[in-house]
Order: sequence, then C-alpha cells, then structure tokens
Amino acid sequence: MLEDRNKGDEAKMRITVVGLGYVGAVAAAALAHSGYNVVGVDADWERVSAFRQGSCPFYEPKLPELLSSGLAAGRLRFHHPEEMTTPLGEVILVAVGTPSRSYGGTDLSQVRAAIRWVPQYEPGSAVLVMKSTVPPGTGLRLVAEELVNSGLRYVANPEFLREGQAVYDWFHPGRIVIGGENEEAITLVKKMYTGIEAPLLITDITSAETIKYAANAFLATKISFVNEMASLCERVGANIDDIARGIGLDPRIGQSFLRAGLGYGGSCFPKDIRALDFCSAVKGYNFELLRAVINVNNRQRLLPLQALHAAFGTIKGVKVALLGVAFKPHTDDSREAPALDIARLLVEDGAEVRAYDPQAMENARSLLPEKVVLCESALEALRGTQAVVLVTEWPEFCELPWEQVSRVLVPPRLIFDGRNALDGRELMRLGFYYRGVGRSGPRWEQRHQENNQ
Ligand code: UDX
Repeated sequence: MLEDRNKGDEAKMRITVVGLGYVGAVAAAALAHSGYNVVGVDADWERVSAFRQGSCPFYEPKLPELLSSGLAAGRLRFHHPEEMTTPLGEVILVAVGTPSRSYGGTDLSQVRAAIRWVPQYEPGSAVLVMKSTVPPGTGLRLVAEELVNSGLRYVANPEFLREGQAVYDWFHPGRIVIGGENEEAITLVKKMYTGIEAPLLITDITSAETIKYAANAFLATKISFVNEMASLCERVGANIDDIARGIGLDPRIGQSFLRAGLGYGGSCFPKDIRALDFCSAVKGYNFELLRAVINVNNRQRLLPLQALHAAFGTIKGVKVALLGVAFKPHTDDSREAPALDIARLLVEDGAEVRAYDPQAMENARSLLPEKVVLCESALEALRGTQAVVLVTEWPEFCELPWEQVSRVLVPPRLIFDGRNALDGRELMRLGFYYRGVGRSGPRWEQRHQENNQ
C-alpha cells in the first residue's frame, strides 16, 4: 500500500469534493491519504451511505483500501448536500458528471447546480477547482455567469485518470495541469499536490480545459489510425501487431494506444470527442479529422457481425458467446462499450447471444437487449455456442483453458478476437477457427483452405 503522507503543514488544508463518481471518489480518498481533511459530497443518499461504510459502489481497484484508511484515520467524511452545516474549506473540487446531450453538446446542469450550491456553505474566498471535463470556454462563462460577487476563485484542473488504474494515476500523473488567473489560487492548488512528482503546467483557464480534450482526441486518433491500418493490413496481407510494434518503437510515435480492435468506448472518449467536434462546429470550424476518428470507431464495432455473416451466411439461430461487456478490462463500466452495440446487432439478426464479464454484468444488465442470456462464468457463456466474440481483453479470458473450451463449444468453433489478445496459431492448432483484427497470420479462411486440401 502507499505510504501515509499525513505530515507537514499542508496536512491542515480542508477540502470538499462535490460529486463522488470515479474521479471525485478517487480524488477524495487520495487527498485524505495525503493528509488533508476531506469531505465528499454527493446528491445520491445511497452512494453517500455506502462510502460512509467504507464500501465502494463501483469497481475500482485499490480504492476500497484507500477509503478504509481515510475513514479509519478520521480524515475522510461523506455527506449529502442537505447535511452540510460547516464551511466547505479552502479548496472545493467539482467532479460531477458532464454527460452528452443528444446533439453532441455537453449537459452542464450538474456543474451549474454544484457551483450555485457552494457559496451557501463557503462564503469565504475558497478556490473552486473544476475537475469535471467541461468544453473549452466554459470556465470563463461560469465565472461571468455564476461566480460574480461570490468571492470564490475559479481554477481549471483537468484530470487524466484511467478507470481501473485511477488510484495509481492519481499518485503518478503524467502531468498536473492548472489553469487559472489568480496566483494565490494557483499556489493553493499546487499545494494540494504536494508530494506528487509530475511536470506542472500552468496555463489560462481555457487552455487547461482544451488540453483535456486534445489529449483524449489524440489518443482516440491513435486508436482509429491503428484500426485503419488494420483494415489495410487485411487487404495487403500484413500483420497489424508487427506494424504497431514497428512504428511504436519510434519514440516520436510510442507503443501505447496502438492496439487494433473493436475501438474505444467508455465514459470519456466517445463523449469528449463528440463534444470537441460539437464545440468546433459551434465556433464555425469543421474539425474533419475528428469526424473520421468517430466514423472509424463506429465502423470497428461492425467487424464481428460482418465476420460471422461471412462465415455462416445467415446468423439467425447461431449461438454466439460474448466475452466481456465492460468497455475495457479492470472496470465494471459498460458505458458506450462496444459489446452493447455488438449484442444489439447480433440479436437483431437473430443470433442467440450469451454474455459474461467478470465485473460489469450488473451495470450491463439494463443496457443489453433482453434476449441476451447473462451467464455466471465464461465457461457457462461458452457452453453450446458455435462462435465466440472476445470483446474485452480481461486476463481471465486470455488465460482460458482453451482445450477445455474446445470441448464445450460446438462446431464450427469460430473465435473472433476483437482485441488481438489471443494466440491465434495456438487456437487453430487446438481446432478452432480464428480471426483477429488486421492479423495476417491466423484467420479462419486459412483453416478452411487447410481442411479442404
Ligand atoms: C481515458 C483517458 O485515458 C484518461 O486519461 C481520461 O481521463 C479518461 O478517458 P479511460 O476511459 O479509463 O481513460 O480508458 P482508456 O484506458 O484510456 O481506454 C479508452 C478506450 O480505448 C477503451 O475502450 C480501450 O479498450 C480503447 N483502447 C485503448 C484501444 O482500443 N486500443 C488501445 O490501444 C488503447
């Protein structure tokens, strides 16, 4: 576990975190771990009472331990807004949701509600730190529209936490970005990160907001680029794994975010890229590259359906196992997960779908079509199916006893590896028909040919 950082003067600072989703809860628990007195506030009573008991209402590795130690040390408390009686402290973090509107814009109602609530309890000159992802220009608007005469000072401090690694990322960030206009306020936010080693970038408010969108858009562009290359690889007979490694070894490009597959999902990338596209359009700029990134990403989700149609002709009545309904491994989050679209498409075409995920079954239940059979284990999902689509590369799936799996599957035993996470050659040796995304080597067409020779 991490070293307790309850030492030094900075330990005296009081911090309130408004909004206890992934970002807010991790920030609250991590700041308490760093020695600050932290109050987490959320409008959901159930969530507040779960956190009070040290239980985390969502799956985030290492967060439960951090919550327990903060509660035990008495430095971490949780309240419903209606229960607040004391001032909120020197620093108030806003980490509420900023969901997409249907037209692509950002719904700021939770942010505005939080900002209107704060001055009732914090009449002083506290620093209001915006952790929620808000479109470029929002901070300045909020200052002008909501904060005049409040005494509060506004600082944009975007977060770059990855779900599933959020606690690690908090203590080991790639950089800390602070956007503000008031020196004292910036100094206080810097102080909040005492003990955390990372390059510090001080900017104006709008630039800080834009950095967050640019980072997500660039990473999504890398993913869509590698997926475009994978499609080309299939046509020229090259192998995307080698291409990704071959370009990634160039330090100017880097190895990360070059895994070809079913594309990105989650609570951030899809929403933020749509929002940046919308923001550009509103400002009269046609951000063509972003449109292409979005289109490629949408197209990737069709790959398993196309492959199964090619293999079976019609997929009506075909039994398919979906492995993974979280948008990526090590999270229980299914928001905008590729599995949801894939399941809908398969069910619409008459396939009989069985699904399993180690953590996300509860969240995915209401998001998946009713006809999908939700299973208790991977082997249960696989039993009696003719085809498997690996959607999320959980280690549990990569390490499945495939010889045993081959006995529970029925012919033709197709595996569509949507994350290029499995050993295709080994699977073909075991008698499966295998297909990855842009992998030239093992493909099920090849086995067909071998069988017919
Ligand atoms: C992302 C950003 O990484 C984080 O900095 C920001 O604060 C929030 O959004 P997260 O949504 O947790 O974090 O997921 P991330 O690990 O970045 O993956 C995003 C998606 O891209 C996943 O669906 C993942 O499967 C996909 N992905 C990632 C690929 O398809 N290929 C890759 O090479 C990498």
